[in-house]
Amino acid sequence: MKVIYDSLSGKAKAFASNLGYEIVDIKEVKDQIVVGPLFLVTRNSGYGEIPQTTLAFMRKNYRSVIGIAVSSNRNWGRYYGAAGDSLERIYKIPCVLKFDGAGQDEDVKVVKEFLDKHK
Ligand SMILES: Cc1cc2nc3c(=O)[nH]c(=O)nc-3n(C[C@H](O)[C@H](O)[C@H](O)COP(=O)(O)O)c2cc1C
Repeated sequence: MKVIYDSLSGKAKAFASNLGYEIVDIKEVKDQIVVGPLFLVTRNSGYGEIPQTTLAFMRKNYRSVIGIAVSSNRNWGRYYGAAGDSLERIYKIPCVLKFDGAGQDEDVKVVKEFLDKHK
């Protein structure tokens, strides 16, 4: 299992690094096919959009992605974590968790349990 992270200001990366699996920066692999299974930790861009880096990566790798978690911010109101909802809808891959910023211990625990079950 590899955890792929898409992080602009470091929060998604911080969360990914707490999961206890190998982490890979999406920028390094977005145009490649990565050997799975993979878990994606991503973020949102403007008004609930999916970041371009995540889209490019998913086009190539969605078949190997078993789940997604999204670093989000409640200030975005109804757009909270919306990139996760869109990814789930488009690719039929579960958005396991939307979490605030770099996440709390409880958030890490939820995703870790998912990963340990699916590895
Ligand atoms: C341009 C921009 C648009 C954003 N849009 C949303 C959004 O629609 N929904 C949301 O929950 N958070 C939104 N956010 C907040 C980010 O998802 C949040 O800050 C996340 O923790 C960033 O992760 P990072 O530190 O790994 O880059 C936005 C942030 C930026 C900079």
